[in-house]
Amino acid sequence: MGGRAGGQGLSGRPAGPGTDDGPELRTERLVLRRWRPSHLDPLAEMHADPEVMATLSAAPFLREESDRFARHQELGFEHFGHSMWAVELASGELIGAAGLTAVIFEAPFTPAVDVGWRLARHHWGHGYATEAARAAVGYGFDVLGLDEIVAFTSVGNGRSEAVMLRLGMTRDRAGDFDHPNVAVGDPLRPHILYRLRRP
Ligand SMILES: CC(C)(COP(=O)(O)OP(=O)(O)OC[C@H]1O[C@@H](n2cnc3c(N)ncnc32)[C@H](O)[C@@H]1OP(=O)(O)O)[C@@H](O)C(=O)NCCC(=O)NCCS
Repeated sequence: MGGRAGGQGLSGRPAGPGTDDGPELRTERLVLRRWRPSHLDPLAEMHADPEVMATLSAAPFLREESDRFARHQELGFEHFGHSMWAVELASGELIGAAGLTAVIFEAPFTPAVDVGWRLARHHWGHGYATEAARAAVGYGFDVLGLDEIVAFTSVGNGRSEAVMLRLGMTRDRAGDFDHPNVAVGDPLRPHILYRLRRP
């Protein structure tokens, strides 16, 4: 998995097919693939949208923050063999990111693997986040051999919580936590926790 020499970064990644681009997942309507330079413009557009970012960050991402996000995902694939994939429609259009992140901050439930998602606003309401997340969760259990996958979101992010429920995840009320990487006093700091055990 991963299969790429470490430390290369996104700029060193090939733009075309026929290379070692795994792990890559296909669903009925989506392709989840490794990050490519061609993804960076639409990713930055999504990250500049205040509506998308309202539940993720104190402010929309600047271009360099968005590019760093993609590079960070690639580092995840290289170090852990999993990360958030670029999510494309069959047409090749990038619609967002979804996948499995190694949670390394300190909380009672960590270390853990988190399933997460974010989509461009005009792609909400089509079931794409749930479809991508189902594939990611299947990969986590069947290929990575995980025993449990968690998901968390800021309090009040009903759309994200609805995805967790559609995945069959269970709220762990005792696991609710203040996200250590979010500033004290930021309304996005209190988080809820969901868990999913291997079937
Ligand atoms: C969280 C987020 C990804 C959820 O997106 P979403 O589109 O609501 O979720 P899904 O992709 O699962 O789509 C579900 C909706 O599609 C509808 N839908 C339409 N066609 C569908 C189809 N063919 N199959 C399944 N559902 C379909 C469902 O009925 C549901 O509609 P509803 O919202 O009216 O109940 C999105 O709101 C987002 O990117 N938010 C900002 C970033 C964020 O907060 N990320 C999470 C951080 S933890």
